[in-house]
Amino acid sequence: MENKAFYITTPIYYVNDLPHIGHSYTTIACDVMARYKRLAGFDVYFLTGTDEHGQKIERMAESKGVAPKAYCDEIAGAFRRLWERLDISNDGFVRTTDDYHVRRVQKIFKRIYDNGDIYKDKYEGWYCTPCESFWPEGQLVDGNCPDCGRKVEWTEEEAYFFKLSKYADRLLKLYEDKPNFIQPASRKNEMVAFIKSGLEDLCVSRTTFKWGVPVDFDGKHVVYVWIDALSNYITKLGFPEEDDELYRRYWPADFHVVGKEIVRFHSVIWPALLMSLGIDLPGSVFGHGWWTAEGEKISKSKGNMIDPGKYIDEFGSDQIRYFVLREISFGQDGDFSRLNFLHRTNAELANDLGNLLSRATAMIGKFCEGLVPLPGSFDDMDREFEPLATEVLANYVKAMDRLDFQSAFGEVLRLVGRANKYIDEAAPWSLAKDDAGKERLGTVLYNVAETCRVAAILLSPVLTKGAPEIWRQLGLEGTPAEAGLAAAKWGGLVPGTEVRRAEPVYPRIDVKAVLERDAVEKADKEASKSKEAAAKAKESKKEPAKAPAVDEPMPLITIDDFAKIELRTAEVLEAERIEGADKLLKLTVSVGGKQRQIVAGIAKFYEPAELVGKHIVIVANLQPAKLRGNISEGMLLAASTPGHEQLAVLTVDKPLPSGSRAK
Ligand code: MSP
Repeated sequence: MENKAFYITTPIYYVNDLPHIGHSYTTIACDVMARYKRLAGFDVYFLTGTDEHGQKIERMAESKGVAPKAYCDEIAGAFRRLWERLDISNDGFVRTTDDYHVRRVQKIFKRIYDNGDIYKDKYEGWYCTPCESFWPEGQLVDGNCPDCGRKVEWTEEEAYFFKLSKYADRLLKLYEDKPNFIQPASRKNEMVAFIKSGLEDLCVSRTTFKWGVPVDFDGKHVVYVWIDALSNYITKLGFPEEDDELYRRYWPADFHVVGKEIVRFHSVIWPALLMSLGIDLPGSVFGHGWWTAEGEKISKSKGNMIDPGKYIDEFGSDQIRYFVLREISFGQDGDFSRLNFLHRTNAELANDLGNLLSRATAMIGKFCEGLVPLPGSFDDMDREFEPLATEVLANYVKAMDRLDFQSAFGEVLRLVGRANKYIDEAAPWSLAKDDAGKERLGTVLYNVAETCRVAAILLSPVLTKGAPEIWRQLGLEGTPAEAGLAAAKWGGLVPGTEVRRAEPVYPRIDVKAVLERDAVEKADKEASKSKEAAAKAKESKKEPAKAPAVDEPMPLITIDDFAKIELRTAEVLEAERIEGADKLLKLTVSVGGKQRQIVAGIAKFYEPAELVGKHIVIVANLQPAKLRGNISEGMLLAASTPGHEQLAVLTVDKPLPSGSRAK
């Protein structure tokens, strides 16, 4: 078989968070894809890693009183350990603090600079020194910082910029020539609109912090975010140094799998950088959807980060791997509900798959002395299996090749479901009663056992523990992964194979008991929380927190004063964080069919994904201002408590066409 190369990557994860279900989701998806391609005979390289530079990490380490590298080591270790527990089969783990990465990023930066695509300029805006934040003019409150109320200063900072704007046409042409470059297709339209609204050059260096890759020809600067982070996909392979055997073998990547919020960086900045370097472009950037947890956004402050480690302890790694890919269509957003997890695991892994295997091995044990029988006579019902399995295999391959895990596993489940029903219809226990029936009994039990074998191969990329166990119980040698995808062709099970009856592969979860346990845990937690709070209050002899004071009323204005402000509704199309500006979010909004960019100081209160689709209200005639190099064309309205402890963005009560005037 031709041993074609296949290269797949996850984003490299920031080390400011312990890994949670979101990071695990992308990593599990890539792992399943990597295992599937290996199953199909490809020469696979699967890369993941951690993104460790920047001011945020520097400060985080400082607040913990440890050196940045020591802090990064600890969190990178947590990622590695979780990946091991989740059976992630990555071939490489890149850290942006690794020596080779730092050295190669410097060379990449220099090469782009020598090409004339990086130039020195300055970055300017209103700067609040204590908050270390740039603010657009429109967001200043009485000319002061909207966050802390202190004085801001007009600041200019020397920085290097990448000529991103130069690549706009070539990027648009790329999307046209390679329709699958951005997937799912809906995300492609967003990128086209973004580029058409005008690309600005990109700030690629900073001088205000040190925790980064130094620009080797200008020691004042460190490389800022994207050249450092995105380059991991090639530095790990050896580019641009001599020792680049992996680069020659695997580049270009087939898939960069990322969350939807960073599709833009991967489909705009990354190809432009590669074009500038003059090297091949990746095959596809796949932007998957976002998980919420029990209907709420996942956030550290809410403390609702689902820890996959806990699920592994409670139920097993297969269960969580399977659930996240089966529950929602890859590309769509979805909600992680514990109850759905319990039900789906029971329905599909314990009842459908596990039970089929138990029934097969039990009946082969009882009626055929534990040996896989020879098929005998065939009824119409028996003849259905081979074509059904062939169709399932073809659909599975098509679905997997487009990363549609939900449908791929659904197909296997269709075959498994049919086999379970077939047992009930064919009733092997009745066939066993007389000689006439016994001929067909062999056929029925063969079909059932063969279904288990095929399912074990097709589910082996996701069920890393269960699939080999099914294989073992069927009496087969080696593992389904070693057997390969070609072995999934119907009829591979050899009659006479001795099955090994054992414990159920996926024991049924007692949902009621789990829910009771959860309730007890929750009550314990709440009790200890209120105990802690009481102790704290006692210690500080403080009154319990009061409702925040109301702001002083402002002087009256006339209706004419108010009429000067053009308030319009706007639909949020995209939202993202701004690297190095903890408090800012950058929104792309639609106002009456026209797109605008708005930068707002609401990052502490909203996850970007949460805002997308909201109909907000903006001041549409505010003079544009530049903030950290990002233009802000208007200001969104938000209400906050006087001390800024809480903030909520104003939205409209019912959907109206965007651009509607508010008065
Ligand atoms: N370091 C950058 C990526 C640089 S890639 C060259 C970064 N890191 S991150 O730690 O914030 O990871 C973001 C990624 O984690 C998302 O793109 C997605 O893959 C995954 N997820 C984190 N939370 C998620 C959800 N709630 N839901 C689904 N996946 C999300 O961005």
